[in-house]
Amino acid sequence: MRISMEKRVSVVGLGYVGLCTAVFFAAKGYKVKVSSQSLEKVEQINAGVPPFYEPQLDNLLKTVVQEDNLVAVLGREEAILDSDVTFISVGTPSLPDGSIDLRFVCESATEIGKALRKKAEYHLIVVKSTVVPGTTENLVKPTVEKNSGKIAGDDFGLVMSPEFLREGSAVYDTFNPDRIVIGEFDEHSGAVFEKLCKLAYGDEVPVLRVNCPTAEMIKYASNAFLATKVSFINEIANICELVPGIDVVKVAKGMGLDPRIGSRFLNAGVGWGGSCFPKDVKALIAFSRKEEFKPLLLESVVRVNLEQARHVVDLMKEGLGKLEGRKIAVLGLSFKPNTNDMREAPSARIIDLLCKEGAVIHAYDPMAMKDAKEILGDKVNFSQTVNECVEGADCCLIVTEWDEFKKLGPDDFVKLMKVPFILDGRRIYDPAKFLDKTKYKAIGLGNGNRG
Ligand code: UDX
Repeated sequence: MRISMEKRVSVVGLGYVGLCTAVFFAAKGYKVKVSSQSLEKVEQINAGVPPFYEPQLDNLLKTVVQEDNLVAVLGREEAILDSDVTFISVGTPSLPDGSIDLRFVCESATEIGKALRKKAEYHLIVVKSTVVPGTTENLVKPTVEKNSGKIAGDDFGLVMSPEFLREGSAVYDTFNPDRIVIGEFDEHSGAVFEKLCKLAYGDEVPVLRVNCPTAEMIKYASNAFLATKVSFINEIANICELVPGIDVVKVAKGMGLDPRIGSRFLNAGVGWGGSCFPKDVKALIAFSRKEEFKPLLLESVVRVNLEQARHVVDLMKEGLGKLEGRKIAVLGLSFKPNTNDMREAPSARIIDLLCKEGAVIHAYDPMAMKDAKEILGDKVNFSQTVNECVEGADCCLIVTEWDEFKKLGPDDFVKLMKVPFILDGRRIYDPAKFLDKTKYKAIGLGNGNRG
């Protein structure tokens, strides 16, 4: 083992993956240096304040900063040189053609290379950013080698280890991974990283060691499969609606009892969004097309997802007729609960279509109002409370399944709305209770649901 196991880690890129990884190692007693190009972000992190909302992160960050186990520094060199392992967790956003923008990965590899030129000891580089197959070996490796004058496998180690955390439970997922995938450039790099993981995570977590492009593909294939599962159940839900008496929730339950299918990610709804599924499925499509392969299934998965917004609006029109001038209350804007993230949120697609129909939209979200205002601007009247949002509305559409909305009963809507018409886009209510007192429609609920 050529790496000193002094427990010194650095992290480049401070989004969900980077910050949660940093906090994890710091909480395990490692000395962690994170770096940012923004002084404001450095000061914020050193004050123990996360730059985004994520349950549990606030307290943990405060603790590790107070214990002096996590320090943010401006610029990357200091962080890299004061560590034995550097995690690259910068963003890989979409380019206009759907392919990924590797600019930040390339910048990080350049800076790591420049710093390593000044370091005599072995250093391990771990690519955590989601990158298309081939990136670690064809971009990161040559970039670090060129800027450091060193040789991968000999002077520095290189692995690609994808991250599978979910927003909203990012801290829990980081501390309790289902599996650790290690894509190794060479056997020694893989062994060093496996040892580090076993020390930090314990022996229980399954570890899979593969080559770098396989690890890169595991990440894309996992996200594409989960997105496929959701698009699949959404399509089944839309078919269920055609038949009185069928409820997709029960169909999914019956399917999920088959261990070959599994019950998770079979919640039908208004469609998927977020910082990963849309970007990653698009990137895999663009990658395949570039290699002259037509990914027919993946393209349909995306199409089904985009069409789901239209389907929601059609359901609303079936219940209300023309939407022009109607007050529509939208509950929930973030792409999923427990986050303020609005990236690729289904709410934005639905609101766009509702605006085109001339509807007057009022919206409320417990956490994402500030971010939503930046994206939706004056398309929406933002309410401060649920009551303000639904008061006098002709229809209330549930877009995000926040706990605050789950607590509401039919009477809460009846007393405030002009027409107590609930369109349950996330299946959070019991149809029996709502059908009794309100006009209730829901994704995947047959029951003479048409018209
Ligand atoms: C996802 C992957 O789950 C995670 O492993 C990866 O690291 C990053 O991408 P995330 O985007 O945070 O995580 O959220 P996730 O819980 O997967 O949900 C993604 C979208 O699918 C959300 O819009 C959610 O509402 C939707 N979804 C999920 C459904 O509509 N139904 C489901 O059953 C599950």
